[in-house]
Amino acid sequence: MAENPAPSSISPEAILRFYSDAGVDQPLAETPVNRFAESEAEKSAAQQKSAAPAVPAPSAAQPRKQAPSPPRFSDPPAPVSARPTPAGNSNVSVPSQGTVMAAREAASSAKSLDELKSILETFEGCNLRNTATNLVFADGNPQGRVMMIGEAPGRDEDLQGLPFVGRSGQLLDRMLAAIGLDRTKVYIANTVPWRPPGNRTPTPQETEICRPFIERQMALADPDVVVLLGGSAAKQMLQTSQGIMRLRGKWQAFHNGNREIRALATMHPAYLLRRPLEKRLAWRDMLALKQALAGG
Ligand code: URA
Repeated sequence: MAENPAPSSISPEAILRFYSDAGVDQPLAETPVNRFAESEAEKSAAQQKSAAPAVPAPSAAQPRKQAPSPPRFSDPPAPVSARPTPAGNSNVSVPSQGTVMAAREAASSAKSLDELKSILETFEGCNLRNTATNLVFADGNPQGRVMMIGEAPGRDEDLQGLPFVGRSGQLLDRMLAAIGLDRTKVYIANTVPWRPPGNRTPTPQETEICRPFIERQMALADPDVVVLLGGSAAKQMLQTSQGIMRLRGKWQAFHNGNREIRALATMHPAYLLRRPLEKRLAWRDMLALKQALAGG
C-alpha cells in the first residue's frame, strides 16, 4: 500500500500545485487567521457582558429598544455604503439587511450607466471587492436590443475588468456569431460584478447585495430582450428555484425595470465547454433568440 509522505518531505512546489488545482490561486493574507479562536473570544466577551449588565433593565414605562439583529452569513467588516451612513449609525459590522438597503439606495441613485459604474467602484458593502483585482461592470453595446447576464467574473475577466473574455467568453462570441450578433449589438454583464475568490459560487448574501446593481444596470440599458446565461443567473433574475434544464428555451415575461420585455434562459458557456453535447440545446435557444429579434 502506498504511504502518505511525511509533511516535511512535501515540496513547497507540490503544495502550491495542490492549491492551484483546487482553485486556490490568490493569497488573501500574509498570516493565517484562526476563526475558531475568534469565535471563542466573541463567545466569552458576550458571556462577560451578560454577567454584568452595563445599563439598567428597561422599566415597563420605558419602551424597549429593538436589539440589532445578528449578522447573517459573513457580513462585511468594513463600512457598508458608497455613501455616508445615516447620522448616528456608526456600526462597523452592519447586519446584511442594512447592507442590502444601502446597495438599493446607492443603485437607485444612479441616473446613467456611467454613474452606476462609478458608484460600484466605491461601494464597499460587498466583501468580494476586497479580493477582486478589478470591477467587472460590462462589455458590449448598452444601446443593443439584447442584454446577456452571466453569474460572476472568472480569472481572466477579473484581470481585464471585462465580462466573458476567457474561454467561456470565446464560446459565447461564437454562439453570438452563429446568429449574426456580436458585442457591437449585445450588452453583457454579470449578476455579481467582482470575481469570487477561486471562482467559488457567490454566496446568497453576495448575490443579494449585488442584485440592486444588476437590476439598475438592466433598467438603465433598457434592452428589448434579456438572455440569462446559466442556472445561477436565471434563478436569481427570474426569482425561481427551478433548474436551468427546466427553465431554458422558454420565453418568460420579464420586467426590465422600465417595462415588460421577454427573457430567455440558456446554458452557461462554461457548462457547454464541459458538456459539448448540450450545445445542440443551446443552439436551439440561440435560434429562438434570432427569431425573436426578427419579430417572430
Ligand atoms: N462566467 C460568467 O458567468 N461571467 C463571466 O464574465 C465569465 C465567466
